[in-house]
Amino acid sequence: MEDKEMMEKSYKRLIDGNKKFSLSKRFDDPEYFKKLSLGQKPDYLWIGCSDSRVPSNAVTNTESGELFVHRNIANLVSNTDLNVLSVLEYAVNVLKVKHIIVCGHYGCGGIRASMNNNMNGLVDQWLCNIKDVYNKYDVELEAIADLDKRADRLTELSVVEQVRNLAKTIIVQKAWRERPLHLHGWVYGINSGLITDLCVIHDEKEDIPNIYRFNL
Ligand code: CO
Repeated sequence: MEDKEMMEKSYKRLIDGNKKFSLSKRFDDPEYFKKLSLGQKPDYLWIGCSDSRVPSNAVTNTESGELFVHRNIANLVSNTDLNVLSVLEYAVNVLKVKHIIVCGHYGCGGIRASMNNNMNGLVDQWLCNIKDVYNKYDVELEAIADLDKRADRLTELSVVEQVRNLAKTIIVQKAWRERPLHLHGWVYGINSGLITDLCVIHDEKEDIPNIYRFNL
């Protein structure tokens, strides 16, 4: 019975929190929700990890309406994932975002899980995308003895590869023909609250190997 009460309480906290949120926003700006209801025009597409400690708006100090968001385990851009590709297509072609950010984070459970041979279930097939990155950079990674540091480096390398995956899509390459569209790779530090920009530069299709460039 007590458990049930605790469950009710932890659930109700969210509903109460929502009321506070709505009130405080309307207190600051009575038109806040009215303006938002007119439509969205975000400049940024955020591709981040599902991890509860990396909330996209909070860590970038942005408001509702500013970020179009896709999150999955370990912030992957897989070229067979209809979900991420649909989000990307809408963000680029309809919303016409100016920046796409892939934001990984240190201490990522998905990254750590990909670094061993344990079986976890369906997620292992998803994590194969990270194992591919590991395999590509295995010499560099295995030279790092400390497993935490190795995971940190794999996190960075994976972000670089995910940004590259964006550049390999027809969606992004088509957009580049018409307008500037900047791709960014970031890593968020859960222990510092700070973002490191990995300075991955892909602003035109000439930045990627020829085999990935489409004749548009
Ligand atoms: Co993560």
